Amino acid sequence: MNYIYAKVSTALNFFGKTNPVSLIEKYGSPLYVHNETILRERCRELKKMVDYKYFFVNYSPKANSNLEVLKIVRDEGFLTDAMSPGEIYSNLKAGFKPEQIFYISNNVNDEEFNYAIRAGVKISVDSISQLERYGRLNPGGEVAIRINPGIGAGHHKKVVTGGKKTKFGIEIRFLDEVKKILKKYNLKITGINQHIGSLFMDGDSFIESVDSILTVAKEFNDLEFIDLGGGFGIPYHKYENEERLDLRSMGSKLSKIISSWIKDYGKEIIFKIEPGRYVVAESAILLGTVHAVKMNYDIKYIGTDLGFNVLVRPVMYDSYHDIEIYRKSDKPSVKNEQVRIVGNICETGDIIAKDRILPEIFEEDILGVLDSGAYGYAMSSNYNNRLRPAEVLIDQDGHDWLIRRRETLEDLLKTFDTLFLSGC
Ligand code: LLP
Repeated sequence: MNYIYAKVSTALNFFGKTNPVSLIEKYGSPLYVHNETILRERCRELKKMVDYKYFFVNYSPKANSNLEVLKIVRDEGFLTDAMSPGEIYSNLKAGFKPEQIFYISNNVNDEEFNYAIRAGVKISVDSISQLERYGRLNPGGEVAIRINPGIGAGHHKKVVTGGKKTKFGIEIRFLDEVKKILKKYNLKITGINQHIGSLFMDGDSFIESVDSILTVAKEFNDLEFIDLGGGFGIPYHKYENEERLDLRSMGSKLSKIISSWIKDYGKEIIFKIEPGRYVVAESAILLGTVHAVKMNYDIKYIGTDLGFNVLVRPVMYDSYHDIEIYRKSDKPSVKNEQVRIVGNICETGDIIAKDRILPEIFEEDILGVLDSGAYGYAMSSNYNNRLRPAEVLIDQDGHDWLIRRRETLEDLLKTFDTLFLSGC
């Protein structure tokens, strides 16, 4: 097997004792491949980011909720959040204790609140109307409120969650109304949280938003924690040597802000951050196979099984992922050329990499889509009735393990009523 264009995975020894061709032969294509060593490294970087005794990292499993990933993150000492009863359920199955789970609800019904209340997890609400609903369901209970600090950040307008044009959080000017509802239902505010958006590469807006949420936090006397949110970016342009987010500098700023706030507040409470992408994005490469190569009106198309049912980010946000090339044969690529890498979904927008200059690609080549561990499998679908791929973990000794099987055709029909099916 030949690594034709693969300096990033090679430098990381990403595939351990195996290689992309063997993995595809063994598990089929496409395939998500996770590397445990990288995942654990990212966890450790984040954990030591802030110098404060009660600093914790909440993993955000919306980025990747594979049970094995959750178990590793838990093993690294992380807490976790949840956006839905489904995420609460998966977190519990992965071994998190209810009190380690923070349910950040958004526009939920009584049933969802009741599920979370019964499960015993910590709950945050993000509007006054939801606070009232929660109070009705759980009078005398504890709750956190999500603040919208009026500041946002993110790689695309669809993922900016703080600021003046988003549906999230409670505006600071409504705090008096919040207090009235707290009184009416005898609720205790134990936490304040925020999340300004996903993927910033410099920490300035994050730090600015922290200042703002900490001012609000002083209004509440019984706080047990403040959750500053996630959004920590990773360099997707690795082949252009894009710089990493400077965690060290952000961490030292945060450490200072926290220690001075604690002095004012008079009590040492828990501070958390809530990253998803930073934890998991770089620890997975999505492998796919080239099945067709053609010219269509002067554009060279590389036709693969990497449809947007498998990885939707490029289609949904115009996101960029570096592409690597691996080859079973000894045939060399003698030139570089501009190509458009597309999937097998019946939509013109099904493009995973647009107009890239890459070494010549042939049929049967395996392509690696870097940094696919966050919002990759998590956002995959059965569109076109395609099957979701398997997921494999390269453990710390370099061995490969299946951590989620590929779907089968039967899986596509598993939610249909058996009575209905028997009539077909
Ligand atoms: N906390 C809350 C309340 C969130 O809404 C999110 C992400 C996070 C934490 C974690 O954010 P992260 O550290 O991963 O940036 N699908 C998009 C990203 C959507 C993010 C949604 N919320 C993408 O593929 O870029």
